[in-house]
Amino acid sequence: MKRALGVCYYPEHWPEEQWSEDATKMVENGLTWVRIGEFAWSRMEPTPGTLQLDWLDRAIEVLGTAGLQVILGTPTATPPRWMIDKHPDMLAVDENGHPRKFGSRRHYCFSHEGYRKESRRITEILAKRYGKNPHVAAWQTDNEYGCHDTTISYSNAARHAFQDWLAQKYQSTDALNRAWGNVFWSMDYDSFDQIELPNLTVTEPNPSHALAFRRFSSGQVVAFNREQAQILKAYSDAPLIHNYMGRTVEFDHYDVGADLDIASWDSYPLGFLEDRMEDDDAHKRAYAQQGDPDFQAFHHDLYRAVGKGRWWVMEQQPGPVNWAPVNPAPLPGMCRLWAWEAFAHGAESVLYFRWRQAPFAQEQMHAGLLRSDRGDAPALAEAAQVARELTKMAEVGTTQAPVGLVFDYASAWAWQVQPQGTGFDYFRIVFEVYRGLRKLGLDMDILPPDSGDLSAYKLVLAPGLLTLSDPLRSALKSFQGTGLIGPRSNSKTSELTILEPLPPNLPGLAATITRSETFRADMDRPLQKGGAIRHWLDHVETSEEITEATTAGDPVLIGSGPVKYLAGWPDEAALNRILQTLCDAEHIQTTPLQGGLRIRRTDTYLFAFNYGPEGASFDGQTIPPAGVYWIPK
Ligand code: GAL
Repeated sequence: MKRALGVCYYPEHWPEEQWSEDATKMVENGLTWVRIGEFAWSRMEPTPGTLQLDWLDRAIEVLGTAGLQVILGTPTATPPRWMIDKHPDMLAVDENGHPRKFGSRRHYCFSHEGYRKESRRITEILAKRYGKNPHVAAWQTDNEYGCHDTTISYSNAARHAFQDWLAQKYQSTDALNRAWGNVFWSMDYDSFDQIELPNLTVTEPNPSHALAFRRFSSGQVVAFNREQAQILKAYSDAPLIHNYMGRTVEFDHYDVGADLDIASWDSYPLGFLEDRMEDDDAHKRAYAQQGDPDFQAFHHDLYRAVGKGRWWVMEQQPGPVNWAPVNPAPLPGMCRLWAWEAFAHGAESVLYFRWRQAPFAQEQMHAGLLRSDRGDAPALAEAAQVARELTKMAEVGTTQAPVGLVFDYASAWAWQVQPQGTGFDYFRIVFEVYRGLRKLGLDMDILPPDSGDLSAYKLVLAPGLLTLSDPLRSALKSFQGTGLIGPRSNSKTSELTILEPLPPNLPGLAATITRSETFRADMDRPLQKGGAIRHWLDHVETSEEITEATTAGDPVLIGSGPVKYLAGWPDEAALNRILQTLCDAEHIQTTPLQGGLRIRRTDTYLFAFNYGPEGASFDGQTIPPAGVYWIPK
């Protein structure tokens, strides 16, 4: 497959005379994709019903005739000001009951029927007009669903829709009362319209109620996106894409992805390191200008799963961003490294965000490939270098990873609703396992929680999984490799109530969790073989073999068969040892990597990337900081 580069462009930000020069320069630098339109509603429809699309026709024509393929965005992330006059109650409402205001973006509630209709209307206008346009080669729905905490809204529209959703799901309030245990604290309902959203309660709401609301809220994003997808499909054969974000778990991306052709995500490694990671200062200093060595790869692998194999980076950081607590410049070479790492993980295309820095508004301090005065910014040369390298490179290839790691959105919601200890974060535990495996030089696939075929893998891990789905359970029963399940996995029903028989209730494993403890960050439980358990420890009664235990004798790694249970959250030392032992048992060859060096194999190449601040040795070479190395296999 031909891998490609591109850029995000805002023709509405620049005088029309500029477009053609911009397009020519994009092409000269080896870019082939250009994404436009996703925030331009106020210029497409300046007043209700008055369409002005001739400028967009011309922009598409200029870009297309220059040789670029256009990705056209539906502009629904930025409803214009007049929309708020037309639908004053379309604004999302925060947990405190305050409407979020106009004046930035994503100011809509997914449940508002009036806005849903407007979203379908503008989507259909664009789909009809550009569905067969030869230059429009892909579509982007909306922009970054859920970004800026916008999945959940406590509006009246959400309340009514939630009540309908509950009525559909449970059919009777008796069934709902039973499922949630509403007898507790006299919370029984006798009609669905009595059920409020789970905010502003005196103390915590019933966790089953809160989790149901999270499932509903995710479903609203899926439904919103599906409406656009259906309309676009009716008028166009071009693939449909959405640009997801980093560490965003509030809606089920697999469910949104099921209605689209390609997944993509917006990769801002330096912003994410400062803004979205809980690592210590030493780690953040070491990687301040490179980004965390595993965060990007994790999302590449996650979105490959969400896209059922097809995925892109829709926005790639090109220099300092504007939105993190501090915004350093990438080390020279990183804008090239990030793109190559994405290709090594199977990305079809990588687009830099954005072409030219805007001299105005919220993102005026955010770099582009060009400066605001049209001079070249440093990332342009790096992008051009990647484009030249791509033309010389044979097929990058794909990978059959030996290891699968389950990632499940509902588990993230469940443990947000019921953390039980402040340290228990679902994304974090999965990410730490991912990082541990990457440091052993392993390639991984992220697996959805309903994966029913594990036959391609030797090792499958599922930390923190709310429930074991039927397909996963039956795949584990016949699994030829090793499955490491836990901590906390399969500990609840999908309603967030306690199971019987008691967890972990795994195929082929005689073990019962009698209670679970959480503890302070400074009170780790040391392990007999070194390292410690943090945050969470299950107390397990078992007749199975115990290969790891705390110094107090609590079983931690349980089972000698294919399915093993991990009863706590291991620290780095303990995790490394456990992962290495499992790999050895499965004859998975590991390549322990030092510092910020990471590798990725495809069937045609072995790639190495140095995220570290110093040179790293690999394969008899010294790879400089920000260096990319590859050898044909
Ligand atoms: C993304 C967003 C872009 C832009 C960018 C800035 O999250 O999709 O529109 O705001 O961040 O880094």
